[in-house]
Amino acid sequence: MLPVYATNKILKNTKVYKNIFIMTVSGNYDIIPGQFFMVRSWGIELLLSRPLSVFDAGCGYVSFLYEIRGRGTKILSGMKAGDSISMLGPLGNGFDLSNIKGRAAMVAGGIGLTPMLYTAKKMVGCEVDLYAGFREDVYIVDKFKEYVDNIYLATDSGKAGHKGFITDIFDPKKYSVVLCCGPWTMMEKVIKKCIKCDVLIFISMERRMACGVGACLGCTCKTKNGNKRVCKDGPVFNGRDVIIG
Ligand SMILES: Cc1cc2nc3c(=O)[nH]c(=O)nc-3n(C[C@H](O)[C@H](O)[C@H](O)COP(=O)(O)OP(=O)(O)OC[C@H]3O[C@@H](n4cnc5c(N)ncnc54)[C@H](O)[C@@H]3O)c2cc1C
Ligand code: FES
Repeated sequence: MLPVYATNKILKNTKVYKNIFIMTVSGNYDIIPGQFFMVRSWGIELLLSRPLSVFDAGCGYVSFLYEIRGRGTKILSGMKAGDSISMLGPLGNGFDLSNIKGRAAMVAGGIGLTPMLYTAKKMVGCEVDLYAGFREDVYIVDKFKEYVDNIYLATDSGKAGHKGFITDIFDPKKYSVVLCCGPWTMMEKVIKKCIKCDVLIFISMERRMACGVGACLGCTCKTKNGNKRVCKDGPVFNGRDVIIG
């Protein structure tokens, strides 16, 4: 049976940086880290929902970290506590934590940090290092301090951490597994490095989505094992299975 949309109440919708917000919504869900919801504002005309990863979740709430990119996320940013929101999920495969053991690295670029916080919380028994790259300023990283062992930063501007790309300072040799989410060019570099060092790599892929449940084939990507739907077969893929340039 296909999952159905639920209407939930917004508890908080707070700006955390220029165009970046955290929206906390009421609801109790059994979530695998790395899963996402299709989200849309209730009562406002907007044909398609927007996929958002679970940033955090707990008893009675789910939260999303999102960046305003276009019309849908702009509408979301204007919503207030007490407003209703329509949500379908949790969707997708998420990170299989039984594959994730030992010393782990999370490598994220900007808003690619979204699936990592809840995942770090659930990686009990692993030593986890976070590598986070930003264009100008660092945001949201403080929330990870409680759940990871070390945090390494890079900014294009040089305002914090290494001046340049996070991939410049990331060395997979120290890790048994790497989780990655961010711009495709960054993920390609991380995959190549991990393959070279024979380290397990899982990536969370981003595609534009329509249905979110595997029915429309709108989110298809090519892999070494044929075409896959990012919403249903992913969004998490083994980095060795995806086709890189
Ligand atoms: C599984 C999954 C999880 C995601 N989780 C998050 C999250 O936690 N936080 C977050 O901020 N974003 C996340 N995204 C991206 C988010 O869904 C898009 O930013 C959002 O759909 C944009 O909608 P919009 O109406 O604001 O912009 P639109 O008006 O639809 O698009 C504006 C412009 O943004 C670009 N764009 C929009 N969507 C995408 C996309 N999926 N891939 C590449 N470019 C795109 C296009 O250039 C487009 O022209 C996720 C995407 C996927 C597939
Ligand atoms: S969005 Fe419809 S199949 Fe993935």
